[in-house]
Amino acid sequence: MTDNYDDLDEEPIPTGELTLQTLAMPAYTNPNGDIFGGWLMSQMDLAGSIKASSIACGRVTTVAAGSMAFLRPVPVGATVSCYAEVLETGRSSIRILVDVWLYSAETGERYKVTEGTFVYVAIDDNGRTRPIDR
Ligand SMILES: CC(C)(COP(=O)(O)OP(=O)(O)OC[C@H]1O[C@@H](n2cnc3c(N)ncnc32)[C@H](O)[C@@H]1OP(=O)(O)O)[C@@H](O)C(=O)NCCC(=O)NCCS
Repeated sequence: MTDNYDDLDEEPIPTGELTLQTLAMPAYTNPNGDIFGGWLMSQMDLAGSIKASSIACGRVTTVAAGSMAFLRPVPVGATVSCYAEVLETGRSSIRILVDVWLYSAETGERYKVTEGTFVYVAIDDNGRTRPIDR
């Protein structure tokens, strides 16, 4: 994960695995008419949890999220793609980097919007931590 958000735009292609793709709908807009950041964060959390769940072979929960910066507004109608990459696996936790890229069908443009790290913990049916079977 880069510490310099000026570098984010310069990454030419997405890394990680495409785990979630969706459409930015008008219902998710802020008062400026652009997409609300909280919605984007929830998509990132979902994307990371899909990846974490596949690694943990079962139920996971989000225990922490790192800082993130929103570089460009997300317009309504854009295709939002979340790419997840495992950074570290612990006894019960998995740290995942989630990158978000946009694709505009109108302009053909594809660019990175943000990235963030999320930590998930494998849990059992009672919500208690369980070790990840490696
Ligand atoms: C996730 C949860 C089950 C962990 O319980 P816990 O008693 O804190 O468990 P532990 O202290 O054994 O920690 C479990 C793992 O999480 C890691 N962890 C805990 N807090 C962390 C944090 N703030 N940042 C990063 N990792 C963290 C620990 O290092 C440990 O990793 P490891 O097993 O790979 O070594 C519990 O905190 C919980 O239920 N939290 C609420 C989760 C939730 O509702 N998420 C949705 C938010 S809306």
